Amino acid sequence: MNQFLQLQALHYAYPERGAVLRDVSLQLARGEIHCLIGRSGCGKSTVLKLVAGLLAPLDGQVLLQGHTIIDPVPDMSFVFQTPTLLNWLSVLDNVLLPLSLHRAVTAADRAHGEQLLAQMGLAALCDERPQRLSGGQQSRVAIARALVTRPAVLLMDEPFAALDAITREDLQRDFFALCQAHGTAVLFVTHDMAEAVFLADQVSLLHEGRIHASLRIALPKPRHTALRYSAPFNALCAQLRQAMDATL
Ligand SMILES: Nc1ncnc2c1ncn2[C@@H]1O[C@H](COP(=O)(O)OP(=O)(O)OP(=O)(O)O)[C@@H](O)[C@H]1O
Ligand SMILES: [Mg+2]
Repeated sequence: MNQFLQLQALHYAYPERGAVLRDVSLQLARGEIHCLIGRSGCGKSTVLKLVAGLLAPLDGQVLLQGHTIIDPVPDMSFVFQTPTLLNWLSVLDNVLLPLSLHRAVTAADRAHGEQLLAQMGLAALCDERPQRLSGGQQSRVAIARALVTRPAVLLMDEPFAALDAITREDLQRDFFALCQAHGTAVLFVTHDMAEAVFLADQVSLLHEGRIHASLRIALPKPRHTALRYSAPFNALCAQLRQAMDATL
């Protein structure tokens, strides 16, 4: 198979717990967005941690371009639910942190960081301290920080969950555009069905540690806010809701 990122028959159990993941397989092509949705505790974050190489599967494997992931690799970035920015650094220095931890930051790096912040609508806030930003702005900084290393894969664990509905929709639109522009493959965990349908090429529903259903989202791109009010969008949301209800 020539898939870019492959999760092959992953099994996982935390020590002294029963099985959390049972035979989870999915594939992402380069630049594809795959949303993982499911009820609380079904194992979504565990899948991301296995893909990131933060946990090792009991069985099965994760392959990036055919190579097994056994440790965290620089080609992947993780965005957590809370932005976790450092308040003593400027917004731009927060974005550059994944680089500055390893080597001296160059003028080209700074220009790239500024460009990412501009693409996230934060050009005017590069020198600001994170505590003076709104929650939505902080989430945007966290996304820019994740992209500054030019990762081929972005792992997102409910990054917009704490935001109000409008901010969230704006961020989804801008995030989608940025990933398309950079050709980044994304595995995106969410509880929100409309978020999954808006962002994804494919949505997988995880239930009790298994992929219970998978839905291809063949909506046109680029995706604009108006799409949310279209019949095909709502039909896909309804289909996902039915699959979710079937797990009750
Ligand atoms: N470090 C851990 N040690 C033991 N059990 C854990 C650990 N982390 C998660 N679990 C358990 O594994 C299961 C799956 O957890 P996971 O965090 O993957 O769920 P999730 O789908 O991300 O949930 P949520 O939507 O609430 O974030 C849960 O039953 C949880 O209690
Ligand atoms: Mg989780």
